[in-house]
Amino acid sequence: MISNGKHLVLMAPPGGGKGTQARVLRDALHVPHLSTGEMLRNAGRAGTPLGLQAKALIDKGNFVPDDMIVGLISERLDEPDCKEGFILDGFPRTLPQAKALDELMFEKGTRLDHVIEIQVPNDLIIQRIIGRFSCTDCGAMYHDTFKPTKVFGICDECGGTSFTRRQDDNWETVVSRLKTYQAITTPVLPYYEYQGLLSSIDGAGTVEAVSEKLRKVIGF
Ligand code: AP5
Ligand code: MG
Repeated sequence: MISNGKHLVLMAPPGGGKGTQARVLRDALHVPHLSTGEMLRNAGRAGTPLGLQAKALIDKGNFVPDDMIVGLISERLDEPDCKEGFILDGFPRTLPQAKALDELMFEKGTRLDHVIEIQVPNDLIIQRIIGRFSCTDCGAMYHDTFKPTKVFGICDECGGTSFTRRQDDNWETVVSRLKTYQAITTPVLPYYEYQGLLSSIDGAGTVEAVSEKLRKVIGF
């Protein structure tokens, strides 16, 4: 099987920095960042039947069904920009999804190169999620305390002036998302450990420190 080292999966609890680090990797490796959460939120905003069904589940902190999410990813991986690799953020997060991804990769004659778990303690996660906001125009991610915009009200990356906070970023939903991560997603880690693909890094440092750790694992 052929691979170029750029077929990557980032795993982390909610607020663990998947999206932040995936954007850094996307810019460094020139492969797309595929966030299933973002795809589902976009579908919700567009008002598609899938999007509306997903929105009701996401807002309560529940997962959307495996077949729905596998279908979404399968279509996305068929697009030409995924030919040279991708950074998966938020998928897979159940064992059936991990197995389905292996099958999809096998059908394409390629394989995953690295699965990286970013470890962050729960108290830090809650602080990170509660302060999060992002640019409505370009998706750049910010935090009230840890990463405010350089100029108040103006996106550092695109100059946009409109910002969004997620509806699932509230105390009650975050606690439920963390429980679900522990119960359903952490059992996926040994699956990848067994395949020799898993690396775990400490995600509690600054964005730059975590990126540096990722760079060492991926080797670029
Ligand atoms: P998703 O959007 O993937 O949410 P999540 O997994 O809960 O993760 P988050 O996006 O909240 O956090 P993140 O790890 O991206 O952290 P971020 O970089 O933003 O999924 C949402 C929902 O969709 C799920 O709950 C589920 O319902 C559904 N869904 C999605 N995929 C699914 C699937 N495969 N199967 C079933 N259902 C699915 O960072 C957080 C904050 O911290 C930001 O403000 C950031 O600026 C800050 N920050 C990041 N890193 C640092 C750092 N090192 N130091 C200081 N601050 C930092
Ligand atoms: Mg995210």
